[in-house]
Amino acid sequence: METRPFGNTDLKVSRIGLGCMGMSDFYGAHDDAESLDTLLQAIDIGVNFFDTADMYGNGQNEALLGTGIKLHRDEVVIATKFGIVLDNDKRSINGRPEYVKTACDASLHRLKIDTIDLYYLHRVDPHTPIEDTVGAMADLVSAGKVRYLGLSEVSADTLRRAMNEHPIAAVQSEYSLWSRDPEAGILDACREHGVAFVAYSPLGRGFLTGRIRSFEDLDEDDWRRRNPRFQGRNFEANLALVDAIEEMAEYKGCTPAQLALAWLLAQGKDVFPIPGTRRVERLKENAAALEIEITRQDLDRLEEIAPPGAADGERYPEEAMRSINA
Ligand SMILES: NC(=O)c1ccc[n+]([C@@H]2O[C@H](COP(=O)([O-])OP(=O)(O)OC[C@H]3O[C@@H](n4cnc5c(N)ncnc54)[C@H](OP(=O)(O)O)[C@@H]3O)[C@@H](O)[C@H]2O)c1
Repeated sequence: METRPFGNTDLKVSRIGLGCMGMSDFYGAHDDAESLDTLLQAIDIGVNFFDTADMYGNGQNEALLGTGIKLHRDEVVIATKFGIVLDNDKRSINGRPEYVKTACDASLHRLKIDTIDLYYLHRVDPHTPIEDTVGAMADLVSAGKVRYLGLSEVSADTLRRAMNEHPIAAVQSEYSLWSRDPEAGILDACREHGVAFVAYSPLGRGFLTGRIRSFEDLDEDDWRRRNPRFQGRNFEANLALVDAIEEMAEYKGCTPAQLALAWLLAQGKDVFPIPGTRRVERLKENAAALEIEITRQDLDRLEEIAPPGAADGERYPEEAMRSINA
């Protein structure tokens, strides 16, 4: 597995990371034993960049990851996030300085580590100036609880304001063949400042793999049932997009998941996809995307298949749309 310097930091992370969210939340049934096996196999094949958040499974995902990496702390880079607060079924965003410290201590405890390598604000709190939130996050760096800071789903302007308070190592936003928002500004802003870009949901939450063919393929409690892109006519229209990606993958001799990841890797050495999987065979399949050669012609063909705006439906339900690119 190729590793690369991560933005302006002294971290070296695998070109393809591992998103851990689905191991505890959002995508239906999961099995901790299988997930732990996947975490260990990831380390074994050189995937060292693990992504979680305090809200995934309401803390369970951090606890699971903490267990998985316990004997391998020095071999891995742990990224987690705070700021989305769950209160029963209600969600709110909290970026207030006093909350930042509490949230970090709780994450450290669940992860069973002394220092978080990369600590992200998950969503910008519309009621707290970004300078205040990032100022409190900077205190965590001074206290040795966090090494580097990150922001998720921010606009270029928010990134610039945040960087005036403290260096930002990474921005994490949704980026894939069917989610091209970052190209409208934040990707350029990251490049201008030497900030690494972490592409989340790089497989379109599984849709781009071609393995989800109907709404009923999703468990009753699967969050994707609430995602507009997976609903009704949008779902049907988006299948046509996936069919074209599948056809091209077949021609290239790879899987659609690998093609989707290879496209992201071709967007620049500063783009780090973090596909999520609970399964060892898919972990290996996704890691092997690094071996796919993408030509200029391939990129042109993919641009024809999936230009910006190609997906039908927004990428989040209405309320959540208000806190992205903030
Ligand atoms: N910052 C944020 O707001 C935010 C939001 C969402 C996600 N994230 C992070 O990004 C990570 C990745 O995103 P994601 O999990 O939402 O979406 P994703 O990586 O686009 O897709 C994950 C889905 O694809 C399936 N999958 C993975 N590899 C596959 C393959 N080779 N073939 C067929 N299916 C495959 C997984 O199922 P199995 O598990 O069954 O393999 C899972 O259902 C998350 O784990 C999380 O850490 C961050």
